[in-house]
Amino acid sequence: MSLQRMLKLLYALVLCVSANEDFDWTKNERGSFYYGTFPTGFSWGAGGSAYQTEGAWDKDGKGMSIWDVFAHKKGKIFLNDTADHSCEGYYKFKDDITLMKDMKFNHYRFSISWPRIFPNGIKADHINEKGIKYYDDLINMLLDNNITPIVTLYHWDLPQVLQEKYGGWQNASMVNYFNDFANLCFERFGDRVKYWITFNNPWSSAVEGYETGEHAPGLKLKGTGAYKAAHHIIKAHAKVWHTYDTQWRSKQKGLVGISLLADWGEPVDITNQRDIEAAERYVQFYMGWFATPIFNGDYPQVMKDYIGRKSAQQGLGTSRLPVFSSQEKSYIKGTCDFLGIGHFTTRYITQKNYPSGRGNSYFTDRDLVELVDPRWPDPGSEWLYSVPWGFRRLLNFVKTQYGNPMIYVTENGVSEKVQRCTDLCDEWRMQYFKDYINEMLKALKDGVNVKGYTAWSLLDKFEWDEGFSERFGLFYVDFLNKNKPRYPKASVQYYKRIISSNGFPNQREVESWRRKATETCSSSNQLLAGKQRNILALIDPLTSHMEMVTEIVVPTVCTLCILLAAVFLMFLLRGRF
Ligand code: NOJ
Repeated sequence: MSLQRMLKLLYALVLCVSANEDFDWTKNERGSFYYGTFPTGFSWGAGGSAYQTEGAWDKDGKGMSIWDVFAHKKGKIFLNDTADHSCEGYYKFKDDITLMKDMKFNHYRFSISWPRIFPNGIKADHINEKGIKYYDDLINMLLDNNITPIVTLYHWDLPQVLQEKYGGWQNASMVNYFNDFANLCFERFGDRVKYWITFNNPWSSAVEGYETGEHAPGLKLKGTGAYKAAHHIIKAHAKVWHTYDTQWRSKQKGLVGISLLADWGEPVDITNQRDIEAAERYVQFYMGWFATPIFNGDYPQVMKDYIGRKSAQQGLGTSRLPVFSSQEKSYIKGTCDFLGIGHFTTRYITQKNYPSGRGNSYFTDRDLVELVDPRWPDPGSEWLYSVPWGFRRLLNFVKTQYGNPMIYVTENGVSEKVQRCTDLCDEWRMQYFKDYINEMLKALKDGVNVKGYTAWSLLDKFEWDEGFSERFGLFYVDFLNKNKPRYPKASVQYYKRIISSNGFPNQREVESWRRKATETCSSSNQLLAGKQRNILALIDPLTSHMEMVTEIVVPTVCTLCILLAAVFLMFLLRGRF
């Protein structure tokens, strides 16, 4: 975790504790559990993404992506890990489909690596047929097993060449390059793929890639970089949707959407108008930034107002938030056949004014503070608190703001933060899935048009700047073992029962699921612990030998060299004088 993130979290906790008395928790009561089932045809699945799972980073003609390069730089990723091998999904996808089949998945969400298809980013340069074959095989095998592929075109792995030559998403030329890539995917895979997601969580690409620099390409263009990147991403999304609409839709009859990540923002004091507005602003700056242009034709008014006013106060002639022309607005509006939603957590929000001119950034532009309730469970990633009721509120917000669009939940899940974790009995994950899926069921009853749910993720995998230290998988992956074996966590059994019952049939049955799931996980635990002991026994003598070399041998040899050089110099000087 970066220092910046640690400080942010500390700040939030301090504020949270000091503001504790002002909270009225009873206003956010969690509500009771709702027993019932999902509509017939509701789609269940899990997901992953290319860079996080495939490995084979330099195999079969694949080009470098910005993540390959970023992760190879020292100090960017926790423990300097890379996803060079990760889960080796490139070689093990058949095994993984067997796991999915056993869980009776209706769909699987994965992403296509752009540099695996166009190694230099550009169609005219070179098309890598081996990369195409990999995705062909994956898609065909999914379909053979009655699993619908939901395919993301951009899950953050921009070809490195495009970053170096043009500055990546800072440059408008990405719109056409991305469109060429998407068009080739439609041409080659569109006869079988019917659900396309243009961008995964563009908020992260923009903010963490170009504002904080925590993600690739690691740029820190505070106050402008994220807005510019997002502007081009939105245009690229719209262009790809139009390409599909005019060239492929009538033949292929598929759908094109976008997947947006959003936390829910709840006002600290629901009777305070300033907190209510701050909480709404939080969601608008998060999801609304992308969803409002796509559904309603322009950036949220509140973003235009805040960033415009602050830019003027900073003495800038124009707003740091770029402007869409009226043609662009109508071109972008309505370019979404379904909305993908990634959701993990919630924040309490209160109003805070930042003095103008100081700390010119996306974060200070919002004039708010994020808080958390220390009582919220947070078993894994520091930012991820389990707050199921926030999910229902977010889904209802989408319904009212964007005209009740068709929704697929494209990511939802929880991690554990243990390095060499051997606990497959993931009680907290079962609880998280149970509660979040239940809130989604309540949202459905509220009239939200949710069509499918994607647990995040199928496997433990590379978790971006956190390396392998945060495990989101339903299946544990033993990264110490070259073959990357997968072991089911208890939540596999639990999720399987939710799928086979298509929801939560009745209290007696649902209560028995947890017991049954934990019964099986203890034996898998023993198996994994045994295997890991063997591997550690093999690794440890080697590690201690290496430590001995670096800690004792190297300094000793260096000291001897210095002494010898000094003696030699003394003799030399004596001879002279
Ligand atoms: C959203 C990203 O899309 C995904 O790749 C990541 O694993 C999850 N957040 C969890 O951090």
